Amino acid sequence: MSKYIRAKITENTPVNKDHTLLGCESYRLVLSPDDIPQRSLPGQFYMIGTDSSYDPLLKRPFSIFRETSSAEGGELQFLYRIKGKGTKLLKEMRKGETVNVLGPLGNGYPMPDKNLTPVLIAGGIGIASLFPLAEKLSGNIHFLYGARTKNELLMLNELKGLVKKELIISTDDGSEGEKGTVVDVLNRFLTLNPQLSTLNLLYSCGPSPMLEAVSKFAAEKGIKCYISMEESMACGVGACLGCTVKTKKGYKRVCKEGPVFPSEEIVWT
Ligand SMILES: Cc1cc2nc3c(=O)[nH]c(=O)nc-3n(C[C@H](O)[C@H](O)[C@H](O)COP(=O)(O)OP(=O)(O)OC[C@H]3O[C@@H](n4cnc5c(N)ncnc54)[C@H](O)[C@@H]3O)c2cc1C
Ligand code: FES
Repeated sequence: MSKYIRAKITENTPVNKDHTLLGCESYRLVLSPDDIPQRSLPGQFYMIGTDSSYDPLLKRPFSIFRETSSAEGGELQFLYRIKGKGTKLLKEMRKGETVNVLGPLGNGYPMPDKNLTPVLIAGGIGIASLFPLAEKLSGNIHFLYGARTKNELLMLNELKGLVKKELIISTDDGSEGEKGTVVDVLNRFLTLNPQLSTLNLLYSCGPSPMLEAVSKFAAEKGIKCYISMEESMACGVGACLGCTVKTKKGYKRVCKEGPVFPSEEIVWT
């Protein structure tokens, strides 16, 4: 069960090399909560108060990047990119200050059958959501990680240490790894490994245009695909209907029925 908890900040530091570069500034937030209500599933998220008040208007959703049990230190870790008011306030918070958090929330990624080696496709900060899935699957996955430019790529050493199958890094501008979008890379990867198309499963998290392209690609190739949707949220618990997306089964709340959906269900508008 999810619940409100207070959590002390034990780290709030930049994670990318050139963290001041416009549009790329990203941080790692480590929290030591009074209590972890329940172990999270990969793909679940917390609403984090982006200042020390209880102002619900200043809560924002962030994927759980890492979590340790009380026996291991009882920490929650998040990766976040500076976007607007809430994240700018969050980056000003210092070690020792407290925030209010609510979670774990949402459904998380369904686990694959044991005989499958899924392909995980992350765009930019989407790494925060897919990294715990890769860990849960003990690195027995292929991982395609793309971003606009190299300063947006996070946790590369951790990924290199974790992923046991193919790890392909790409950037739109060619500043690191292969040049092109992750969808270009996915296309090339499956062309080179045709056996994966018929057997496999895709998981993806990243910006909406990327998710739409991955979903269309999966539909064309007939590959099952799960995507984690990014919508602005207010309550995070299904009450305000502020985060609905259109699906083939009617409108669904990203915070409650999602954030993970089978890609074929989403109606892209
Ligand atoms: C389930 C879920 C998990 C997420 N996990 C992470 C994470 O691990 N790390 C991370 O950095 N971000 C994550 N996000 C996105 C993050 O919640 C937003 O970037 C954040 O709420 C922006 O808050 P802000 O106050 O800084 O910006 P705002 O001032 O609220 O908004 C600035 C701009 O960003 C747009 N925007 C706001 N929220 C979103 C959103 N959710 N998706 C797309 N555009 C948005 C607004 O329309 C506006 O144009 C996640 C979102 C969801 C729904
Ligand atoms: S954020 Fe309120 S219903 Fe989803």
